[in-house]
Amino acid sequence: MESDILDGGLAEKGSKRVTWSGQNMPVLALIGERFKKEKPLKGLKVAACLHVTSETANLMKVLRDGGADVCLCASNPLSTQDDVAAALVENDQIAVFAIRGEDNKTYYKHIHATLDFEPDITLDDGADLVSLIHKEKIALQPKVRASLEETTTGVIRLRAMAKDGALKIPVVAVNDADTKHLFDNRYGTGQSTVDGIIRATDILLAGRVVVACGYGWCGRGFADRARGMGARVVVTEVEPIRALEAVMDGFQVLPMSEAAKIGDIFCTLTGNRSVLRGEHFEVMKDGAIVCNSGHFNIEIDIEALQAASTEVKREVREHVTEYRTKNGRSIYLLAEGRLVNLAAARGHPSSVMDMSFAAQALTTEFVAKQKGRMEVRVHDVPREIDQTVAALKLKSMGVSIDELTAEQKEYLSSWEVGT
Ligand code: ADE
Repeated sequence: MESDILDGGLAEKGSKRVTWSGQNMPVLALIGERFKKEKPLKGLKVAACLHVTSETANLMKVLRDGGADVCLCASNPLSTQDDVAAALVENDQIAVFAIRGEDNKTYYKHIHATLDFEPDITLDDGADLVSLIHKEKIALQPKVRASLEETTTGVIRLRAMAKDGALKIPVVAVNDADTKHLFDNRYGTGQSTVDGIIRATDILLAGRVVVACGYGWCGRGFADRARGMGARVVVTEVEPIRALEAVMDGFQVLPMSEAAKIGDIFCTLTGNRSVLRGEHFEVMKDGAIVCNSGHFNIEIDIEALQAASTEVKREVREHVTEYRTKNGRSIYLLAEGRLVNLAAARGHPSSVMDMSFAAQALTTEFVAKQKGRMEVRVHDVPREIDQTVAALKLKSMGVSIDELTAEQKEYLSSWEVGT
């Protein structure tokens, strides 16, 4: 089995962490038990381009237990946990192509290697596999039954492709499942982003002005958790309904030109490019910290930050680069502008990835079961999958809920009863 990882000797350490995570992923484990017996993925090749974390390792093992041949590469050069990659290769005989800190050339070499595996189903976090299947590996298009997309940024790309008529394979927007974005994007990003900022800097958040750039599900989660740590949170937005929601959630909402002057810590979570730009760096306070928790490292215009600075930028501690502006201020960039929660911390906690990856596993099974080719478009995760994941998660947490009475069911399906 071909693989490319840092060091197989890290397998034991990785394996312990994978087991620890697995203990907090009870829904995925239940699905894994069933997959072991039923083998719904038998004979299929599944290629995944995901963050190589202990949670992803548990998903890979479940897909393998379901009968699939599995191959994994990283969806970000800085998020790979090398010990986990080693555990998958050495202990589980799963092919992995990922090394933390790999350069761009190696990153793409690894994505190519994953597609050379000729998958029937692909799992993406950011649409890199789909993108390559459309740009270079075109011969794979008839073979790929569907590609599953994990993140908002990827779904935006896929919808843009579908709108342009450029999409050539069926895709499923796993991100858009309620049991994914309402929990992973909100509580997962919320906690792990705060975790990444603290691990990188060791600063106290209480009393600081934290600027949450974007108020989608990730931004909401981050703003809420930063407020919980005692920060004074300012939200910036471009979409009026979201901005209004932020106001009514009790946040101060400002245009970035104003927020830039008062923020101590800025975090971008928008999925769009150049959210923090030259004009903002011009007015930031001395000591301002800037970071990103969106999928790609495009949200902070690092070239503009460099242009506003003297030549010397220096790493002042791990994951913290100091830029000295020409008028003598310091601006600190975390994790090179890449996802701070995965680069400086370990990403979302296992118990929230449990739901996202349960949805991934069940959607993979759904795709495998489709008779005939799925229509070429962006599909939603079937509602039953969403509800199964939620019901199993509640059960695993020991939470019971009510059922509708016969009378209530009848009331909901009738229209005659009025005031
Ligand atoms: N995305 C965010 N957190 C993650 C994690 N822990 N594992 C895989 N993908 C993630």
